[in-house]
Amino acid sequence: MASQIQKVLKQALLTFTNSTPVHFIANLDSLASILDKTTAEDVNFDITAATKSEEEAPVTYIDVYEDSSLTMGIFVLQKDKKLPLHNHPEMYGLIKVLAGKIRVISYSINTPTTVEVDTRSYKDNQTGSGSNIMLSPDKGKRKRFVTAELVSNDIVGVDSKPCILDPNKRNIHEIYSVDGPAAFIDILAPPYNTLIPGVGPRYCSYYSIVTSILPNIFRLQETRNPPWYWTDTAPYLGPDPTANINIESESM
Ligand SMILES: [Fe+2]
Repeated sequence: MASQIQKVLKQALLTFTNSTPVHFIANLDSLASILDKTTAEDVNFDITAATKSEEEAPVTYIDVYEDSSLTMGIFVLQKDKKLPLHNHPEMYGLIKVLAGKIRVISYSINTPTTVEVDTRSYKDNQTGSGSNIMLSPDKGKRKRFVTAELVSNDIVGVDSKPCILDPNKRNIHEIYSVDGPAAFIDILAPPYNTLIPGVGPRYCSYYSIVTSILPNIFRLQETRNPPWYWTDTAPYLGPDPTANINIESESM
C-alpha cells in the first residue's frame, strides 16, 4: 500500500507535470486534500529532535523530493524565528503544518488595486507630478519595487487546511514560528533556480516594506538576504516518497 507521502508526491507530479489547463485546478484541489491529511508521523518527523540551540541556524530545510518540475521539503523554524518576506516568481506553493504553529502573512500582486496604484503612479511620473519612488536615492540606481496587497495574516496549525499560493495570489509571504518551534511541509512548482520562459532564472527575492500607499497596499523593495536569516539542512528520515511510483510515467 502506498504511504501517505507517496500519495502526496504522486498527486503533486500529476498536478504539476501532467495537468491540462482544464484539469489543473481540480488536481490542485486534490493535492491540497491529500496534503491536508499528512502528519509529522507520516514523514517520521519529530519536532523535539529537530529543536536546536540559539547559536544554530534559525531555519532548517529537509529535502524530501526534488526534480525539474517540483520540490517538496520540510522547513523547521526554531522558536521565535521566521522566514523573511520573500516571493515565488511564477510559482505555485502549498504549505501544511506538521508541528507547532506558524503565522503566515501573505501579500498578493497584480490585484485590481495594485494595478490601479501602479498605473496612477506611472502616469504621475510621466507628467513629473509624482514622487519618483521607482528610483532609489543613492546614485539614481534602479531598484526593484513591487506594489503588493496584504491579503491574510493567519495563525496556522496542524489542524488547519493547507495554505496555497499561486503566481499572483499570496505570492509574497513571511512566516513566523508561534509559541515555540514549528515545522511545515512545503511543495513548490516549478522549483526556484529553474528558468522562467522568456524571462530568465527564477530567483527567490527578499523584500522590505518601504511605505503604505493605501490601507493594505504596500510598496515593497527588494533587499539582500537579511543577515539574521540562514538555513542548514537535515536528513529526511521518512518513507521513500518515490517508492512504487513510476516517476517517468507520472511526469509525462
Ligand atoms: Fe515561501
